[in-house]
Amino acid sequence: MVETIVILDFGSQYTQVIARRVRECNVYSVILRHDTPAKEIEALRPSGIILSGGPSSVYAKTAPMPDKAIFNLGLPLLGVCYGLQLLGHFLGGKVEKGEKREYGKGALRVTDGFCPLFANLPESLQVWNSHGDKLTKIPKGFKSVAITENSQFAAIENRERKMFGLQFHPEVAHTPRGKEIVSNFVHNICGCGKNWTMRSYIEQAVEEIRAQVGKERVILGLSGGVDSSVAAALIHKAIGDQLICIFVNNGVLRGREAGVVREVFGRHFKIKLQYEDASELFLRRLKGVTDPERKRKIIGKTFIEVFQGATKRAGKAKFLAQGTLYPDVIESVPIAGNPAAMIKSHHNVGGLPKNMKFQLVEPLKCLFKDEVRELGLELGLPREIVLRQPFPGPGLAVRILGEVTPERCEILRNADTIVVEEMKASGWYYKIWQSFAVLLPIRSVGVMGDERTYDYTIAIRAVESQDGMTADWVKLPYDLLEKLASRIINEVKGVNRCVFDITSKPPGTIEWE
Ligand code: XMP
Repeated sequence: MVETIVILDFGSQYTQVIARRVRECNVYSVILRHDTPAKEIEALRPSGIILSGGPSSVYAKTAPMPDKAIFNLGLPLLGVCYGLQLLGHFLGGKVEKGEKREYGKGALRVTDGFCPLFANLPESLQVWNSHGDKLTKIPKGFKSVAITENSQFAAIENRERKMFGLQFHPEVAHTPRGKEIVSNFVHNICGCGKNWTMRSYIEQAVEEIRAQVGKERVILGLSGGVDSSVAAALIHKAIGDQLICIFVNNGVLRGREAGVVREVFGRHFKIKLQYEDASELFLRRLKGVTDPERKRKIIGKTFIEVFQGATKRAGKAKFLAQGTLYPDVIESVPIAGNPAAMIKSHHNVGGLPKNMKFQLVEPLKCLFKDEVRELGLELGLPREIVLRQPFPGPGLAVRILGEVTPERCEILRNADTIVVEEMKASGWYYKIWQSFAVLLPIRSVGVMGDERTYDYTIAIRAVESQDGMTADWVKLPYDLLEKLASRIINEVKGVNRCVFDITSKPPGTIEWE
């Protein structure tokens, strides 16, 4: 049995961050809906429970509430922000509307140095607050162990019952030593060891895949992206040649993409790889199409067709593997004011139709992205694949504004290769979310040597982001920008001008289409 911390989600945008912090302490964590029955929680035999924050007031009619039996399970419990207020609400304290919302940095003073949550931490700590209501009367059996300017109850404990509450958010980066507080909770209070590592996960996953698949065959659509690549390496480790990977060349891939995938998976890992070059078909269907959404639809639909044909050629298989990650399967809590609940990706292009008669193998289903990367490295995948920036399913087609033609693909591919090379050479590639070139459908006048030119413009885009939902443009150094522009204009035939995109998201999007 893997030692587990259960996190009950009351709709905070930081719930997943709490789960990740726990896992960074090498302890497994799962996120469950706020109203999961105590019996179900107990059945998981968790080592402790964390109540997340949330945007509601405990007095609101629609306030999300836990099953109150969770307070009698005898398990260690940590309430964060709204979670602390729930402790107050259910255990006999009092929560009141704060006069003003406390938002931003705060200075915490630990008043009881023996509180195990603050073990090995200094008396003064910088913390991050974001709450409206506050606890004004402490529940019975509890005492205050830390204060801030605005609150006598910034941290409370009932050491005997192993129940703790924090008014601030220990999980966010703005609480610089918050990770140690989380670590104190999971290790010192819940008594968890450090058993959750990607190495131990590999052993467990390999066994599970073998048990699920038996002697049957598994098909996997390999895109060359991080998730499908790591899933392929992991499943291959478990079942070897029973795995068949299908790689579709849709004609709008980056320069080295097809080559790298064939090299790494085909030759190095010796994975059975079926290479489907459908580039002509895709480009034929994209001919004359300029509307971004139509491009996406055509590519999505053609991909499904090609993939279905390829699975038939691959022979009989009972299973289909997918690189689904944990954030895709967590049931989001539809609580007003929770941005995480409203954000639903519109990007699931390339998703396969439900009528394909396969059972699913999803070995990354309980992992976060950073864990998948760690797992990939542990499995021996090269950095080039594991640390890759995200690349959209419709590929270069949404970076060629206007019509996608073979000539324009060639121009963008050459420019993009230079961007990737220089970003890697300067170390910037691995520091940021995405960096790429975009081909604009306009021509402008220039001079090269003695000749007048009339050629295309390339826009360079570099953005910093946590999850692609919001993004800031990156202030790349001038000398790097100069090198990029000069190489692109000199080396890429058909381009005589380079511009740098300084739009953030919102109001812009990351891709240009
Ligand atoms: P936008 O352009 O919406 O992009 O700001 C946010 C993130 O999503 C990626 N993206 C896509 N991924 N299919 C995908 O698989 C798509 O159609 C698509 N469009 C955008 C984009 O690269 C960025 O990381």
